Amino acid sequence: MSDLRFDGKVAIVTGAGHGLGRSHALLLAERGAKVIVNDLGGALDGSGASTGPAAEVVELITKNGGEAVVNADSVATPEGAQAVVRAALDAFGRIDVLVNNAGILRDKSFGKMTVEDFDAVIAVHVRGAFLVSRAAFPHMKEQGYGRIVNTSSPAGLFGNFGQANYSTAKMGLVGLTKTLGIEGARANIKANAIAPLAWTRMTETLLPAEFEAKFTPERISALVAYLAHESCETSGEVFSVGGGRVARVFVAEGPGWRDDAITPESVRDNWEAVMAEQPYLQPTTLGQQAGASMQAML
Ligand code: NAI
Repeated sequence: MSDLRFDGKVAIVTGAGHGLGRSHALLLAERGAKVIVNDLGGALDGSGASTGPAAEVVELITKNGGEAVVNADSVATPEGAQAVVRAALDAFGRIDVLVNNAGILRDKSFGKMTVEDFDAVIAVHVRGAFLVSRAAFPHMKEQGYGRIVNTSSPAGLFGNFGQANYSTAKMGLVGLTKTLGIEGARANIKANAIAPLAWTRMTETLLPAEFEAKFTPERISALVAYLAHESCETSGEVFSVGGGRVARVFVAEGPGWRDDAITPESVRDNWEAVMAEQPYLQPTTLGQQAGASMQAML
């Protein structure tokens, strides 16, 4: 089988100045993509700004014989998001791949979390992904082709202490991915999400030291490149990925329990059946889920 190449394709990677985004940008460029290296260049909590990190990545890509341009706009504002997409159109005339990766952290236990901590994290992760996708979508639609990879997190899928803001944003990205997968289908726009685990500045103080060698950003980028490639037919899915392991994560519904005369007491008395997992359904649309509820009445 041939290698996965991106010759002639244009990719935007947001938050590509450090960590995972940097690694995705380097791999896509090495495989022939022209890359917009977007990064606000601030601190982990989103404060500050600098073109330095994005410029360094572009320099590295160029030195390796690739093509890339710097963009240091924030994905968190409509103007910034438009400017990111505009940078791709101005430099390379099209946009084929969008990797929504930019992110910040403002971890606090729920009782201490301020509205500002909540809003700032939502603004970058979920609103940022919405805004850049919204700016890119019409161009992808017009050309009948696009690949979008969103960056969720196990913290969103499964919850994590001190991350109410981050988990909300990361699960929000699952919903965005599923709906983009449905709405993009007719125009051959595929959208998927990854839930990674890797050693970066975001996790280096949380993970055991031995993770550094095994949970490398490069081991995440391999999946991102496949999802970003034209040969990938999958859409609307979420994958957990880390240390070289990739697994599909899906939202399932148990077989359920129903009763026309449902009361609070009958729910209590049948709680074991409500909680049962097997045989599970795995609806891929809202309609399928509603259909299952209708079916249970027959
Ligand atoms: P990182 O901090 O190294 O990279 C995030 C990048 O996003 C930074 O370079 C930062 O400057 C940039 N950024 C922040 N706000 C921005 C904005 N408004 N506009 C443009 N760029 C902005 O962290 P890492 O680990 O590489 O994170 C990448 C993504 O992966 C994030 O979405 C993160 O939440 C997610 N993730 C990472 C995990 C890990 O294990 N490292 C686990 C789960 C999710």
